[in-house]
Amino acid sequence: MSQAILSVRGLRKNYGGVPALQGVDFDVARGEVCGLIGPNGSGKSTLFDCCTGLQKSDAGSVLLKGMDITHWPMNRIAREGRLLRSFQKTVVFPTMNSEENLVLAGQMARFPGIASTFSVGATSRARVKALRERARELIEVSGLSRVAHLPAGNMSGGQQKLLQFASMLMPEPELVLLDEPLAGINPILIEKVIQCIVSANKDHGITFLVIEHNTDVLMNLSHRVIVLHQGQKLADDTPEAIVRNPQVVEAYLGG
Ligand SMILES: Nc1ncnc2c1ncn2[C@@H]1O[C@H](COP(=O)(O)OP(=O)(O)OP(=O)(O)O)[C@@H](O)[C@H]1O
Ligand SMILES: [Mg+2]
Repeated sequence: MSQAILSVRGLRKNYGGVPALQGVDFDVARGEVCGLIGPNGSGKSTLFDCCTGLQKSDAGSVLLKGMDITHWPMNRIAREGRLLRSFQKTVVFPTMNSEENLVLAGQMARFPGIASTFSVGATSRARVKALRERARELIEVSGLSRVAHLPAGNMSGGQQKLLQFASMLMPEPELVLLDEPLAGINPILIEKVIQCIVSANKDHGITFLVIEHNTDVLMNLSHRVIVLHQGQKLADDTPEAIVRNPQVVEAYLGG
């Protein structure tokens, strides 16, 4: 395996009496698309929360590009680690159109915090022009051209997911964590999201860690798959081996 971009060691997280993570270890190699699966409540989103600084873990460590980011605040992890994530619930700015959403995403990543996004002076005209160009490119790649003029709130749920995905690519991240990017979207848009992930990975070298319950799609997309079960790692292998692993079949995939 090439150098790990993300290394998680002995990660633990309890919510009250609920052990969401019970000592999880894994690596994600730079340049790979790694799948993360497991039953509802197995700790997948919590793992993302602890890797991105949204939640503080109780024990264990998270290394990003060799830096110990375990106790870093969320903004610093995103900015210095160039690590971004999506949430299960889609978040876009509903009154802005696609280009405005994307330009704002690019500005926010550079100047973390809403207030500084609108600060005068720091955002030069040339920079905004470059952001607009990149936004138009991403609108094209995500197949959103036809609806790009609409306020994002008037786009379909699937289109909003694509826009959210494009927003994450605006600041040119190195590692992207996707939490159920395909939930609730139709087969055509599923295909589009997959193409976007594959192209961002192949053409721009972006590493992905993807939580997804659509296992058929995830197995095709991923180079490797990690399985969580009751807050513990149950398996970590190639998709071919995962679908044949009897423990994984019993705990998650079903007969
Ligand atoms: N903020 C929170 N406060 C309290 N309990 C939480 C919180 N977040 C998660 N949990 C609990 O931690 C456990 C793991 O939840 P998590 O959301 O990580 O699961 P998941 O694998 O992402 O599930 P799903 O596939 O349903 O999204 C669950 O028992 C959940 O109820
Ligand atoms: Mg979840």
